[in-house]
Amino acid sequence: MYLIRLVYTSSVSEQFSQGDIENILDVARKNNNKLNVTGMLCFNSRLFLQCLEGSRENVNKVYHTILNDPRHEKIEILEYQEISEREFDTWSMGYVPESSLTKPLNLRFSGSPHFSPYEMSGDSAHRLLLALRDTVPNI
Ligand SMILES: Cc1cc2nc3c(=O)[nH]c(=O)nc-3n(C[C@H](O)[C@H](O)[C@H](O)COP(=O)(O)O)c2cc1C
Repeated sequence: MYLIRLVYTSSVSEQFSQGDIENILDVARKNNNKLNVTGMLCFNSRLFLQCLEGSRENVNKVYHTILNDPRHEKIEILEYQEISEREFDTWSMGYVPESSLTKPLNLRFSGSPHFSPYEMSGDSAHRLLLALRDTVPNI
């Protein structure tokens, strides 16, 4: 089964409260682990940027549950690509807190110093995720 990487961005909806992030991560780690899906989630209290990697079937499955989650909206796929190896294989779902989303890093991958994934190409979003991966310790 092919390996796939999917990168999407979304915005918190009115139904989201800041305490939900812990629950999202707990559930994501449990479910993704069962499906051999790995990845990373970045969150700046308003916007999500998430990467999922694994078999095409399982990444699609997880993405469809995420898509139907009322806690976020304006969900846009930035990249969907066949890959030959995983890049987030140590994480069923790594988490990058807001403090890692620094101005220099945002400037490197977008036109502004703010976290602005809707304005990024898929390639820039993917590269930002890789740079962020290297700033956080393994969980
Ligand atoms: C931004 C965001 C990211 C999420 N990421 C994942 C994920 O990687 N894996 C997952 O299983 N659920 C994820 N969820 C939660 C799912 O939308 C859904 O609530 C969950 O899969 C339901 O699991 P359950 O049927 O075991 O309760 C995410 C939700 C949000 C809002």
